[in-house]
Amino acid sequence: MFTRRQILQFATAGVAAAAADLPSAFAQSNPSNAALPQDVSGSHSLRAHAATRGVLVGCAVAPALLANNSQYARLVAAQASILVPENAMKWAALRPAPDKFDFAGGDAIVAFAQANDQKVRGHNLCWHEALPGWFASTVTKDNARQILTGHIQTVVSRYAGKIHSWDVVNEAIDPAGTRPDGLRDSPWLQLAGDDYIELAFRTARQADPAALLAYNDYGIELDAAKQTQKREHVLALVKRLHDNGKVIDAVGVQSHLGSGDTITGNVDGLRDFVSELRGMGLQVFVTELDVNERASQGTVDERDAQVAAIYRDYLTMMLAEPNVAAVLTWGITDRYTWLNGAKYARADGQPQRPLPFDADYNATAAFFAERDAFDSRKKT
Ligand code: XIL
Repeated sequence: MFTRRQILQFATAGVAAAAADLPSAFAQSNPSNAALPQDVSGSHSLRAHAATRGVLVGCAVAPALLANNSQYARLVAAQASILVPENAMKWAALRPAPDKFDFAGGDAIVAFAQANDQKVRGHNLCWHEALPGWFASTVTKDNARQILTGHIQTVVSRYAGKIHSWDVVNEAIDPAGTRPDGLRDSPWLQLAGDDYIELAFRTARQADPAALLAYNDYGIELDAAKQTQKREHVLALVKRLHDNGKVIDAVGVQSHLGSGDTITGNVDGLRDFVSELRGMGLQVFVTELDVNERASQGTVDERDAQVAAIYRDYLTMMLAEPNVAAVLTWGITDRYTWLNGAKYARADGQPQRPLPFDADYNATAAFFAERDAFDSRKKT
């Protein structure tokens, strides 16, 4: 996919971007206070504000954009202290054929991050989605455990020492499922057996003892009955992994929220969940934050204000918990959000604005809400 030279080239572009203070390029206007242009670079960045509280901040990234879009690369370098590949480390990207690995995209992200003094999350080692085309015809009950552990050994060893945390297993609980343990009826469960999650964590731990190992899931943020039930299943799973050899270090709360969600008074269960994990010595990461505003009405400023209120209320609650150690948004600019794909498109044809920077790279109200939430955290 990428040549060595290309990888080096954009790693260097990132360095330059991080090193140079670019006040004019990054002096953005705050839409909620348009008369006052506000500087969001350097000491005013998310990265700098989060650092004062010992928290990591970042976003999902795509290697092709880091390589080919210098405005995007500069913004990522300036605002993030941790990156996660949006798709580049999923099976479909890494495994073009049963006997082949393609690390070009993953390597490129790691190189960019190292050049810009950023950490990297690995996402992910085991998921029911983003499986390569050959999976269905190749993976059987006889070889699934070997194929799963072989993948984890190869991928985790390649990046050993360079990864802050791995999402070892993604989205394995399904509240609509019929099993008492809540496990999703995924190809991995069907083919590799009931203990495939334990197997994945044990294998990852061996391959890189320094990386934090995380379980990552969505739909566990709010007090709604379905989400509460899912959170209980996740907690039980995490306890099993913890009690059985301490093979888990963290939980990723994806945090794909909606602009119609009520946060205040509706996240007590999540707060308890986070503090229960703290009692077990586990960290919590907000791994994929964005606010789906497909149903929001009104002017762009009004829509932005709704999105920002969710960022503010949600992150202020989460960041008050001392074991919440990282906040990542699922993308950095609205220009490339997955929420503008067909599945989540707005009925009025307007693009969604779910992220801290809009499609023109201007900081949105959500940026300022996120930054304020870091400031609200107690200094330790
Ligand atoms: C999404 C990506 O953003 C899309 O580009 C891709 O087409 C599908 O996957 N939960 C996850 C992420 O854990 O990996 C998903 O990412 C979004 C939901």
